[in-house]
Amino acid sequence: MEKLLIEGSTRLEGEISISGAKNSALAIMPATILSGSECIIKNLPSIRDVVYLRDMLMQLGAKVHILDSDKISVDSSAIKSYKIDAELAKKMRASYYFLGALLGRFKKAEVPFPGGCEIGVRPIDLHIKGLEALGAKIKISHGVIKASATELIGAHIYLDVVSVGATINIMLAACMAKGVTTIENSAKEPYIVDTANLLNAMGANIKGAGTDVIRIKGVDSLGGCEHTIIPDQMEAGTYMIAAAATKGNVLIKNVIPTHLESITAKLREMNVEVQEHEDSVRVIAASKLKAVNIKTLPYPGFPTDMQQPMSVLLALADGTSVVTENIFESRFKYLDELKKMGAKIRVEGRVAIIDGVHRLSGAPIYATDLRAGAAMVVAGLVADGKTIVSNIGHIDRGYERLEEKLINLGARIRRIQED
Ligand code: EPZ
Repeated sequence: MEKLLIEGSTRLEGEISISGAKNSALAIMPATILSGSECIIKNLPSIRDVVYLRDMLMQLGAKVHILDSDKISVDSSAIKSYKIDAELAKKMRASYYFLGALLGRFKKAEVPFPGGCEIGVRPIDLHIKGLEALGAKIKISHGVIKASATELIGAHIYLDVVSVGATINIMLAACMAKGVTTIENSAKEPYIVDTANLLNAMGANIKGAGTDVIRIKGVDSLGGCEHTIIPDQMEAGTYMIAAAATKGNVLIKNVIPTHLESITAKLREMNVEVQEHEDSVRVIAASKLKAVNIKTLPYPGFPTDMQQPMSVLLALADGTSVVTENIFESRFKYLDELKKMGAKIRVEGRVAIIDGVHRLSGAPIYATDLRAGAAMVVAGLVADGKTIVSNIGHIDRGYERLEEKLINLGARIRRIQED
């Protein structure tokens, strides 16, 4: 089994470049189906979830050509099937985007229930509510969501919970619905704007993406386009936190600083220096990290995906920090792994109370999900001695060339085989 061996207490120094945003790519690739033509997608991260999506597109009958390490063409003109393979679908959460994309294109979709990180129940009731509001008939049998519609008609949809996935899925199905769809209380993450920009480049008429009311005027058809995916704010945030945790000095290039504002603000509150430039940020560690409180919220609040790496930083801060996880109901499992390294943490429901310690010690630890895996790597970089992180398949789903990028910053990390 592959694991990561990390020799700790390494100061990260130098510069790295951020790849395309995973959570944009996972929406944008299925969205290309709506064009029935060829789309060129650039700045695609080379991560396992993108490979799974490519396989699903090809299994439907799309022609996918790799044009460069981060560039593909997807020609969906020859797609005939509207059924997603169960084996592939359960490997990730975002397979649910094929519901909106296939419904929008064929008025039919059969998508098995998605997989994804075990950070909570992760229902898709809001996706289904939105698609039914557009006129889809949805039934679930043997773990497969079967959707069909004689026609899709624009509707007013209010999301009682802010949901990235539901917002995007409804947007995909509404692009060619008859009439106008408004999504109220929509998520505002940069991925939503990125996906809306792709759809508008294909000929859609979407306004308000990035706000809490999105208005979609249905069009008769969509065509091919070229689109460059935005930089990954979560990958960037992970390296910002790693630089601060290892007392380092790192220039993180190819970012959109406004997408990182909540992370930058928290790091500055902890006395970490963050210099913002046009498309990069430099993180210079503080001599003493100040304990702070974190409440995860939908964008532009502090992102739930950064709760886990940030908790490693708080475990080394001077004082007690309180972390409240407001988005997912069980996103603290990884804290047991941090305690094996000497962190002083107690969990009460959705709140973790972290008493900072002077140092962590290396240990064999376990990645419980994607962002927890990133947090384990950060912990291994700062801990004294050797850390071995297992279950790293989670990390490979969302971080491009993690070891290579960290080694370029001076980390002592390598992949090993161990039973
Ligand atoms: C997306 O997940 C991201 N994944 C997650 O990133 C991210 O943590 C999450 O958004 C929040 O920002 C992708 O984009 C592939 P949600 P998603 O729908 O869409 C509840 C990572 O590490 N909800 O915004 O599944 C849900 O239970 C991953 O990159 C419903 O109740 O998240 C949660 O409490 C982890 N009903 C809240 O909404 C629904 O139908 C937010 O979930 C859908 C969601």
